[in-house]
Amino acid sequence: MQVNLHETWHIGPVEIPSRLVLAPMAGVSVQAFRRQGKRFGAGLVCSEMVSCAGLQHGNERTLGYLRIASDERPLAVQIFGSEPAVMAGAARMVEEAGADIVDINFGCPVKKVTKTGAGATMLDDPERACRVVEAVASAVSVPVTVKLRRGLENGSRACLSIGPRLVEAGAASLTLHPRSAKQMYTGTADHSLTAELVSLVTVPVVASGDIVSRARAQAVLASTGAAAVMVGRAAQGNPWALQEILEGDGDGPSREEVVAELVLFMRETVRELGEHRATGFLKKFYGWYLGHGRFPRAFKAELTQLPTIAEVETRLLGAVPGARFVLARLEEELQHGDEVLLDLPISIYGGG
Ligand SMILES: Cc1cc2nc3c(=O)[nH]c(=O)nc-3n(C[C@H](O)[C@H](O)[C@H](O)COP(=O)(O)O)c2cc1C
Repeated sequence: MQVNLHETWHIGPVEIPSRLVLAPMAGVSVQAFRRQGKRFGAGLVCSEMVSCAGLQHGNERTLGYLRIASDERPLAVQIFGSEPAVMAGAARMVEEAGADIVDINFGCPVKKVTKTGAGATMLDDPERACRVVEAVASAVSVPVTVKLRRGLENGSRACLSIGPRLVEAGAASLTLHPRSAKQMYTGTADHSLTAELVSLVTVPVVASGDIVSRARAQAVLASTGAAAVMVGRAAQGNPWALQEILEGDGDGPSREEVVAELVLFMRETVRELGEHRATGFLKKFYGWYLGHGRFPRAFKAELTQLPTIAEVETRLLGAVPGARFVLARLEEELQHGDEVLLDLPISIYGGG
């Protein structure tokens, strides 16, 4: 039986127009990525994780710049930390700034985060995890959600004992990435755990991990009863994956579309991060966009060597001149949507 991915669902009062969620990814989920995800059918998009201490202190080194545009809502802003009061304060800032949902990260396996007691480490301290959720949920009126891994160690089933407790503490939805923190991104996501979690809680569960195709999305939704699937790595430099998952449209983009989307992404990212930060940030995206057999390896390598973004753009549009027309059309369609609703500091850490 085919599952309808266009079905509306809710997290608390927030209506989500499709059963496809774009994953929070540190170093990836900038506004340009989120807006693009929306255009390609994501019902909900998420910021990368924001340090609650960073929000509290305005620490220059860890702060970047988060902008929310009117056309990327509903949007969840994800925070991480381990101190209930600090997390509550950060959540209040996030709500005041205009986010529709506050998401809490209990999944990040990266040492820089886990050694502070935050991220996946919280799965080992259910009492504290519940206190964090309680504090955040009572601090804000928007729904509070939690993203977690299966547990710290391989084979752990901690998510099944902690998940229902987090719901009792006030979580309006749970996203499960059923790998252990130790696994990082190796092995496979065991969605039989997602099915078990769904059977244990009354709130919507989002399935994250290895959703790379329509067939996989359909299979995971059908076998788990999850409310939605979350797509992460498959959408990096490849928004067409979202379209394929939603519509089953498997033709793939033309070279003109690929270059137009990449150049648009570059221009938006420069506006968001500034030329200097965007230059390094964008390098990984060249390979992601131009991969999938779309362009020769040497061309990708050449782009990463060019010193300025302007030169990369010139080279791209020179190689595929027809992309200019697609780009002009996209920019025209988009020009009304990028009214900025909120400015927030954002972390530069990574992982979940
Ligand atoms: C580069 C990268 C950064 C990530 N950053 C975050 C993050 O900030 N917060 C979070 O909850 N998960 C983060 N994740 C995990 C993803 O949201 C997702 O759960 C995971 O990648 C599995 O989904 P996938 O197989 O579709 O990629 C990150 C993943 C990657 C690859």
